[in-house]
Amino acid sequence: MTDHNETDVLVVGSGIAGLAAALAAAREGANVTVATKATRPEGASSWWAQGGIAIARDEPEEFKQDIIDASAGTADPEAVDVLVEDANDAVRDVLLETLDVEFDTGTGAADFDFTREAAHSSDRILHVDASTGKHIHVPFLNYLDDHDDVEIRDDTAALELIRHEGKVHGAILESGGEFEPWYAGATVLATGGIGDLYPRTTNPADSTGDGIAMAALAGADVTDMEYVQFHPTVCVANESPFLVSEAVRGEGGLLRNGDGERFMPDYHEDAELAPRDVVARAVKREREETGEVLLDVSPLDFAGHFPDLVEKCEDHGVDWTEGIPVAPAEHFLCGGVTVDDRGRSSLDRLYAVGECSRTGVHGANRLASTSLLEGLVWGLRAGADAAGNDVEVIEAPELLERDPELPANFAREKFVRLRRVMDEYVGLERDPEDLQRAMSVLRRLKGEVDAYVRTRTSRSLYELRSAAVVALLVARQAAENDESVGCHHLVGDAATDGGDAAEPTADD
Ligand code: SIN
Repeated sequence: MTDHNETDVLVVGSGIAGLAAALAAAREGANVTVATKATRPEGASSWWAQGGIAIARDEPEEFKQDIIDASAGTADPEAVDVLVEDANDAVRDVLLETLDVEFDTGTGAADFDFTREAAHSSDRILHVDASTGKHIHVPFLNYLDDHDDVEIRDDTAALELIRHEGKVHGAILESGGEFEPWYAGATVLATGGIGDLYPRTTNPADSTGDGIAMAALAGADVTDMEYVQFHPTVCVANESPFLVSEAVRGEGGLLRNGDGERFMPDYHEDAELAPRDVVARAVKREREETGEVLLDVSPLDFAGHFPDLVEKCEDHGVDWTEGIPVAPAEHFLCGGVTVDDRGRSSLDRLYAVGECSRTGVHGANRLASTSLLEGLVWGLRAGADAAGNDVEVIEAPELLERDPELPANFAREKFVRLRRVMDEYVGLERDPEDLQRAMSVLRRLKGEVDAYVRTRTSRSLYELRSAAVVALLVARQAAENDESVGCHHLVGDAATDGGDAAEPTADD
C-alpha cells in the first residue's frame, strides 16, 4: 500500500453542514479531518448567506406548513418534521451556546429581531443584518480550528471516493498538486451547490457539485436534480452580480417593471412574498417585456435595516435610492445525493449533508432561510452517526501517478459551453425538446472530459468532470419529469407530452 492517511471521519467541504458534522463527530469522540477546497472564509456558500436562519419558535406546525406550501406540496413531511423539531435546539446548542453568534436583537436586549422572507407566514428568521452567513461561518471555523480532534485541511480537494462493493472507505485528496488516499471509517460529503454550471449565480466560484458527482460515479442514488432554485433578486447593475436578500421584500421592498409598475400582485396573491420560483419567473418575464426590473426599497428604512447591503450597493456603484436593478440567478439545488434522516446515502459509510444532499425537506422548491438550518440539523445528525466506524484500508483507485498537464484553456472552454447549454436549455423555464438537445451536447462534452480523465489528473479537470456529470444529471432528471412543479417549469408545445428519456446514470 502506498503512503496513506487515516481518519475516523472524513468531511469533504467546510460550510455550515460540514462543520456541524465535524463538530458532532468530534463530540462523539471521533478524530475528524475536514478537507476543503474553499478559500477561507469566503469560499464556502454558507459565508454568503444573507437572510438568516429560520427556527420553529413556538409555532412548529405553522413552520412545517410553510415549508410544505413553498414546495407546492412536494416536500417529504417526515423530513420536514425532523428539520422543524430539531431547529430550536440545534440553533440554541450550536449557534448560541457554542459559537456565541450575536443575532440582531429588537428593542429588548433579550428579544431577537426575528424577520420574515417570502412564503413565511410569520417572523421567525434569526439574522445578523443581511450577512448572517459570515457571522456564523467565521466563529464556526475558529471554534473547530481550536478543537483537538478536528483538523481542517484548506486548499484540499476530494477527487474520487475510495469504494469497494457498495461501501465507501474515504477519498483521494489533492493538495498542492499531490494526491493521497485518505481512508476513513465514514465519509461525509458537504460540498455545497452547483452555481458554476450557470453563467449567473449567487454561489462562490468553484461550486462544481463535486460531492454529487463523486457519489453518483460511485453508484449512490441522486435525486430531484431538476429542482434548481433561482433567486429572483440578484443585483445586475454591472458585471459582478450580488444577492439582494429576500428579507428586503420581507420588510416591504416592492418589485417594479421598466414602466415603473408594481407587477407581483398580478402574478400571485402574496405578491412580492410569493414562493421564490413564482417571483423569479415573473421577474424574468417583466424584464423581457419591459426591459428591466427594479427593487424599490423606498417603502422601508433600507439604510437602517440593511447597512451591509447599502455598503455593497455603494461598492458596486448602485444608487439604491433609484431602485436596485435585479434579475434571477442560480441560487440553490434542492436535490442531490439521496439521504435519510441521519444523512446516510444509499452507499454504506457515505453520508451527504447540506446543499449537496437531498433530504426531502425542500421538495421542488425551498423555503427561504431553511438552507443554513438544514445544513446544521443534518450535519449534526450525520456527524453523530458517522462516528464510531472502523477504518478499513483497501486498494485505492489508480489515479495517483498521472500526467497533471491539460491543454491550455481546455477547462475554460468546456465550462463556457456547459454554462451556455445550462442557461439556454436547463434554466428557469425548460422546453422538453431543448432538454433533449441539452443532453446530447452534455453527453458529448462529458465524453471529451472523460477521455482526458483516463490519462490525466488535475483539480481543474476533476472539477470539470464533476460539472459535466452533474449537468447531465440535472438535464436528464428534468427531461424525465413531465410535471411542471416548483423550480421545474416546463414550457413549449411538447411540455405536456411527458418525458420518455431513459433512466439517468452518472456514466452516461
Ligand atoms: C436571501 O437572503 O434572500 C437568501 C435566503 C435563502 O436563500 O434562504
